[in-house]
Amino acid sequence: MKLVVYGLGRVGGALALGLKAARWDVRVHTRSPAKARRMKLALAEDLSQADVVVLAVPDAMVGAIEVPDGPAVVHCAGALELSALNAQRRGSFHPLVAVSSPNDSLEGGWVAVSASDARLENTLKRMAKALKMNVLTVPENQRARYHAGAVMSAGLVIALLDAAVEATGLPRAKAEKALIALTRSALQGAAARGLAKSMTGPIVRGDAAVVERHLAALPPDLASLYRALSKRALKLKGEDASLAALLGD
Ligand SMILES: NC(=O)c1ccc[n+]([C@@H]2O[C@H](COP(=O)([O-])OP(=O)(O)OC[C@H]3O[C@@H](n4cnc5c(N)ncnc54)[C@H](OP(=O)(O)O)[C@@H]3O)[C@@H](O)[C@H]2O)c1
Repeated sequence: MKLVVYGLGRVGGALALGLKAARWDVRVHTRSPAKARRMKLALAEDLSQADVVVLAVPDAMVGAIEVPDGPAVVHCAGALELSALNAQRRGSFHPLVAVSSPNDSLEGGWVAVSASDARLENTLKRMAKALKMNVLTVPENQRARYHAGAVMSAGLVIALLDAAVEATGLPRAKAEKALIALTRSALQGAAARGLAKSMTGPIVRGDAAVVERHLAALPPDLASLYRALSKRALKLKGEDASLAALLGD
């Protein structure tokens, strides 16, 4: 199976290096051959000779990349449907991993796989196995909701942490380190015991007085974020009349 990774950015690099380590026949198509040489990755000479071309390019470029007839074409974009591709055999391989460097490992992460035919789906599942990833299947008509959830669990958690650092009113560098460590401990609890059983804080303790003091202390934009998330936490915890009254509809 000859596979070409098209675009040697963060995801392209992580895929190509991971598949090379798993001894797949992987080549790269890049505008920067020197980068491929530095990463010890072989360059693709003729895309038409590939069985699969994986487009690891910005989402907006996916429909514009011209791949000659022959190979199946696969994108890595969580938000795009298969119809975004101009090829007969189409697939998607969307890693649920926040990849911020081509050297990041995908191992242990999940990947959403979809394909226009069973043979390609099987290939993408084998690719996931080679990368030691877990497979998630996403129906095409649920793509936007699936990707919204993925964004909420990665980039928006970072945005929430940014707001939390501001909420503390403490010097940024130290508060950021302390809160990242706190979030890590919360995620470890969630991974071990599931979301409902790992929640901590005044909502799960039913401590309306503490929540009231928080809301009074925060500036309006942070208070509305705190209120919205507290309502969600209350939904997870279950009925509590005084907290429900405090948080409103
Ligand atoms: N980063 C993540 O955490 C993540 C996670 C899941 C899925 N994804 C998806 O993976 C895909 C790639 O994202 P990324 O984060 O890896 O992006 P990236 O780091 O910006 O890399 C994109 C690569 O595409 C190539 N490229 C850029 N502009 C191009 C153009 N005009 N024409 C042709 N090639 C071009 C470049 O490679 P060369 O310079 O080598 O040509 C560039 O390094 C996207 O669909 C994204 O939604 C990303």
